Amino acid sequence: MSRYLEIQAALLGVGTVGGGVYKLLERRSEEMPYKIGGRLKVSRVLVKDLSKEREGIPCELLTDDFQGILEDPNIHIVIELMGGIEPARTYILQALRAGKNVVTANKDLMAEHGRELMEEAEAQGCDLLFEAAVGGGIPIIRPLKECLAGNEITEIMGIVNGTTNYILTKMTQEGMDFQDALKKAQELGFAEADPTADIEGLDAGRKMAILASIAFHSRVTFDDVDIKGITKITAKDIQYAKEFGYTLKLLGVARNTDPEMEVGVFPMMIPSSHPLANVNDAFNAVFVHGDAVDDAMFQGKGAGEYPTASAVVGDVIAVARNMQDNCCGRIGCSCYKDLPMKASGESRHRYFLRLIVEDRTGILAGVAGVLGNNNVSINQVIQKPAVDGVAELVVITDKVEKRHLKDAMVIFGQMSMIREVASVIRVYSQR
Ligand code: NAP
Ligand code: HSE
Repeated sequence: MSRYLEIQAALLGVGTVGGGVYKLLERRSEEMPYKIGGRLKVSRVLVKDLSKEREGIPCELLTDDFQGILEDPNIHIVIELMGGIEPARTYILQALRAGKNVVTANKDLMAEHGRELMEEAEAQGCDLLFEAAVGGGIPIIRPLKECLAGNEITEIMGIVNGTTNYILTKMTQEGMDFQDALKKAQELGFAEADPTADIEGLDAGRKMAILASIAFHSRVTFDDVDIKGITKITAKDIQYAKEFGYTLKLLGVARNTDPEMEVGVFPMMIPSSHPLANVNDAFNAVFVHGDAVDDAMFQGKGAGEYPTASAVVGDVIAVARNMQDNCCGRIGCSCYKDLPMKASGESRHRYFLRLIVEDRTGILAGVAGVLGNNNVSINQVIQKPAVDGVAELVVITDKVEKRHLKDAMVIFGQMSMIREVASVIRVYSQR
């Protein structure tokens, strides 16, 4: 069997992650012969703007000609770190069709076009690895596909967005309001200038679609994920969560309630004793339940130059090893089932409701009546002393179907005694 004395790779994109990958591969270069049985070299770096200064990247490697990379027979690995859907999708498909292995960190692309790309990789007998697409530096995709392959995974929950975890941590620990915490996250470079994808839960939704597909062996795309962001969370909600012994997190929750799956991203109150409640700042964590392993949690840095480069370089090394053993494409798409998604209205959760009501007799009975008539069972109620003729009524429900809660909310909206439904937040309950 012929082995490679040198394996060449091309980087597509050398921004935050690409720059980290280049430098990390340089740092490990002396050890590569021991790790992969040969040298590993980045021989081309594709960028959009050739005139930009790139510290630490030799300018002779830079190119804006993807075709040149595609046609270079010495390049066996393409590392896509440009982001976005196009041209990343087309470049990856072309690279696979040219027999090149691909590593990517692109969650947007994998969440929307994962099936097409994985099928092409399989057809070509190539590797397509994407460990960095979920949880940055945290190993989770390969552990799910390999180390936990003996399990039936029934639940996978995660804090998979660092920006929102940072914001909620500041609101919880320092009493900041949402806008101030967001501003701080932007100043520190966690949140993008346009933070919509983070704070509206879209970034977490993409990551949960990828995780659920792998965990449940059935394709879940971004459109299948029920998503709610954190923009409406107030300091008061956080205060109430504490009073009830909970911590508020933006959680991705995927459940396999055979024969259906449900996948969502929502702000959720979880018991403060739960391991995920203590994952703070910009850290990410993924909590997995399997029938054999029971509970397992993976935690670490979900973004940033080197944590993300760690996952990308791990994938590049895995590809290089497969090349040496002539077994590329060894672990491809693992979606061998076709489970339906549960209708969103049928998903069952406990809820925290905060109602601003008039301070007069019969209100509590009225609220309880509407909930009862709509199959929403009450677990706890607290009424706070009235101020200026309005009182705050806080209800925690038992597990209820979302559609029943929605029906009750419509009736609350028509009742003059209820001035406002100020918050509706899910409360964690065991699978
Ligand atoms: P970035 O800093 O914006 O860098 C993007 C790079 O891609 C730049 O070098 C840019 O070239 C190049 N590029 C963009 N479009 C191109 C095109 N059409 N042709 C050629 N080059 C192009 O992005 P990043 O933060 O490193 O993210 C890269 C990927 O990693 C994304 O998929 C992201 O979702 C994923 N990811 C990022 C993190 C993180 O912490 N940043 C964590 C996990 C996953 P110019 O320099 O010439 O503009
Ligand atoms: N914007 C993401 C986050 C980082 O805040 O977690 C990249 O996945």
